[in-house]
Amino acid sequence: MTKSWRDVNVIYQIYPRSFKDSDGDGVGDLRGVITKLDYIKGGQGALGADAIWISPFFPSPMADFGYDVSDYCDVHPLFGTLDDMRTLIKEAHARDIKVMIDFVPNHTSNQHPWFIESAASRDNPYRDFYVWRDPKSDGSPPNNWLSIFGGSAWEFDETTGQYYLHTFLKEQPDLDWSNPKVRWEMRKVLKFWCDMGIDGIRADAVRWIAKDPDLGDDAPNPHYHEGMNAFESLRHNKSRYGRDLFRYLRELTDVIEEYPDCVMIFEDYPDDLESTRDQYLGFYSVNPRVSMPFNFQGMWVEWNARSVAEFVNEFQGMLLPEHVPVYCFSNHDQARLVTRFGADHARLVAVLQFTLPGLPVMYYGDEIGMENGAIPADRIQDPVEIRKRALEGGGVSPEELDEQGMYIGRDPERTPMQWDATAYAGFSTREPWLPVADNYPTINVAAELSDAGSNFALYRTLLYLRTQHPVLRSGDYLQIPDPHPDIFRYRRINSGEKLDVILNFSAGDVTIGDCRGDVICSSYMSSRPEQDSDTITLRANEGVIILRSAEQ
Ligand code: GLC
Repeated sequence: MTKSWRDVNVIYQIYPRSFKDSDGDGVGDLRGVITKLDYIKGGQGALGADAIWISPFFPSPMADFGYDVSDYCDVHPLFGTLDDMRTLIKEAHARDIKVMIDFVPNHTSNQHPWFIESAASRDNPYRDFYVWRDPKSDGSPPNNWLSIFGGSAWEFDETTGQYYLHTFLKEQPDLDWSNPKVRWEMRKVLKFWCDMGIDGIRADAVRWIAKDPDLGDDAPNPHYHEGMNAFESLRHNKSRYGRDLFRYLRELTDVIEEYPDCVMIFEDYPDDLESTRDQYLGFYSVNPRVSMPFNFQGMWVEWNARSVAEFVNEFQGMLLPEHVPVYCFSNHDQARLVTRFGADHARLVAVLQFTLPGLPVMYYGDEIGMENGAIPADRIQDPVEIRKRALEGGGVSPEELDEQGMYIGRDPERTPMQWDATAYAGFSTREPWLPVADNYPTINVAAELSDAGSNFALYRTLLYLRTQHPVLRSGDYLQIPDPHPDIFRYRRINSGEKLDVILNFSAGDVTIGDCRGDVICSSYMSSRPEQDSDTITLRANEGVIILRSAEQ
């Protein structure tokens, strides 16, 4: 039995294609992950993360790199075998690491046997596993719903003369969750993995599983203007977030609740459909004992002390004591932290993330400060990018290029993990599926392990402190107003401990009062800020944690 989720310091997301290749085919795999468990926790110089979440490794034609599942209860041969997964779970548990896997409930692959059956004829027993509808009288799609990945959400099927719904790629047909047989099958999938011993589920794109039962048109978005992504032209008020959503999710959490200490984290990006508060509280209402939504707002918050403080205070303010916050600032769908915030500010993100309450989720490579890799046009893999280009007639608008003129999409944040300065960054023995980022000779685990001031050293220290000081995980959160506009300061407190966190968002020194106590961490790592009896002078973009005694 590993430590309880309540005591977990972080969930470390592994994108398995890109973490470690054990068999020299240029693609990461489960055996690769197993060889790096000592790096994650327990080995010499380990990062010290208590849990991992592995993105999809199931059989899949890889139209969306595994988020198009053709068998929910097996492992894609590229990644290994079910036995490898069993070994991974055993080896992780031996190191007190929890294992969370991805679960993709909204859609399957179009190569899933259910869809192959469903598409075979209108009276096939699996027909109602998916959403099929007749064309309108003029032959056009049944309604105006759009695919997140571009174009209509409907694809016409010549064989049976109907359209099927796909919120993502046409290779990812949406399951019909109003069909109890679908829900029953999906509960069986959860049981399969829980019986194998996994500890948690990250549930993908959940808001889309419940739609308006009448499949009415989505309303136009009054804020839409030219230059915005076409998907934003609608409000998606009918195509998602249907009234049965939380009931369906509750059926899933009922399954995992049967297992000791298993949790489910819902992927949900808040939008303007409902108030942000209603959206979060809706997801928490499903079953706060075992489930919670991600909070991704930090990815887009305006990066200054006032906006960040507002975002955190508002979110903390809406939660009930039983709600576990899941702050997440990066993942396989978003630009790398350093690319988004700059190297210094990425360190502030780390101090913030690991001193806020709850269960933080980090992305592989952030601990060494990996940046977005540059992807030449002929190496693009992300289907979203490829589809967007096809829809736009091959042309790519200037906003889609980065400063170096490289294509954006989601490939840049999925480049191979940078383990060392050897060929292919120690990820593989041959050219990997995506190019290794150019900076790997200096930004890599081996180099940073021996550098006391490195990004890695900061992550390791923060995770260690989060383990040592339960107040950081579950103590109360209190904002401490500071008159300086570039300072965000807050306190973590419980009956035994009091820690102050101070983040300086400015590019210059700032002296702050009422700072008695020991600085137990500075984002600078190699040196501490100047402190006298009551004040502390933070340097540019510095974040610190101060341990205060009860009377301070
Ligand atoms: C989620 C995943 C993303 C995937 C999509 C469709 O947003 O994070 O990578 O493309 O769902 O499954």
